[in-house]
Amino acid sequence: MAEVAVRTTQLGKTYNGGVCALHDLTLEVESGEIFGFLGPNGAGKTTTVKLLTGLLKPSAGSCSVFGLSPLKKPCEVHRLCGVMTESAKMYSQMTGLENLIFFARTAGIDAEAASERAEELLKQLDLWDVRSRKLREYSTGMAQRLSLARTLVNRPKILFLDEPTSGLDPESALAVNSMIASLASTEGVTVFLCTHQLRYAQDICERYGIIDKGALLACGSVEALSRSAGLRVRAALRLRENDTPVDFQRGEDGWWYTDMLQEDEMPALIKSLVSAGHDIYEARIIRPTLEDVYFRYIQSEDKEALL
Ligand SMILES: Nc1ncnc2c1ncn2[C@@H]1O[C@H](COP(=O)(O)OP(=O)(O)OP(=O)(O)O)[C@@H](O)[C@H]1O
Ligand SMILES: [Mg+2]
Repeated sequence: MAEVAVRTTQLGKTYNGGVCALHDLTLEVESGEIFGFLGPNGAGKTTTVKLLTGLLKPSAGSCSVFGLSPLKKPCEVHRLCGVMTESAKMYSQMTGLENLIFFARTAGIDAEAASERAEELLKQLDLWDVRSRKLREYSTGMAQRLSLARTLVNRPKILFLDEPTSGLDPESALAVNSMIASLASTEGVTVFLCTHQLRYAQDICERYGIIDKGALLACGSVEALSRSAGLRVRAALRLRENDTPVDFQRGEDGWWYTDMLQEDEMPALIKSLVSAGHDIYEARIIRPTLEDVYFRYIQSEDKEALL
């Protein structure tokens, strides 16, 4: 059994003024996992990260990071965590290198090791060429990568990344994501990634939690979430013109579609069509995407609210 990196039990937060931002959140993230925490604006993602990193006190329930309560053991939890929030700021008048060395020193790393770690991260995050430029001269993408480097100076066991690719162009967002994925595999870190950028999330996450209005709607892999949302894998076939197979629907693109319970059914489906005399020019399997799953959950919740 893998170690549990994050555990929340009926965790809740009501802010002063009565806003219930999080309600009854129970989830687990295993060590080494890249977990995508997805939800629209105001869903409660940042609130969850703040509770897990000890910046907020729960109003209900409890949470732990590698078995430690952020409330009772804040220093130990901080030592294990790298946190990158939307508002993480560094010093604009200092260079990238100086910033990283500074934050490494404040994390208690000695001068020599701090320089070494800073240099290593600047190379890893493709910032080596701009290491001596002041942060205020960095583009958004460079600054974002420097923030990511900052979260890594103390070799955390877990990274909490809150929208690490917001404001980035698609190319930089892809670059940051592939860096997150490769850091997770080379450094063995667990990643708790909050985002609404579903396409990027699908590239790097193994499991997801979908949250809206402070409530967790579902948790699991894309396959598991698709199944529980009733989304099916589909077979798509391109046949001879004027062919009309039974039990298939014709799409606007001229292909023929049918639902399957699982993709193992595909070979038998093809065999039966061929033996029934159909000519198959092309065949493919269409799996539900993270986007399909996400909107199914978010929209069905909105529909329930209307009833
Ligand atoms: N300090 C605060 N005081 C009062 N209400 C707050 C505070 N911070 C957040 N909220 C409210 O709590 C709810 C959840 O906010 P949160 O920031 O956790 O959402 P989020 O999922 O991170 O959203 P986004 O995708 O926009 O970053 C929202 O209704 C928000 O207005
Ligand atoms: Mg947020």
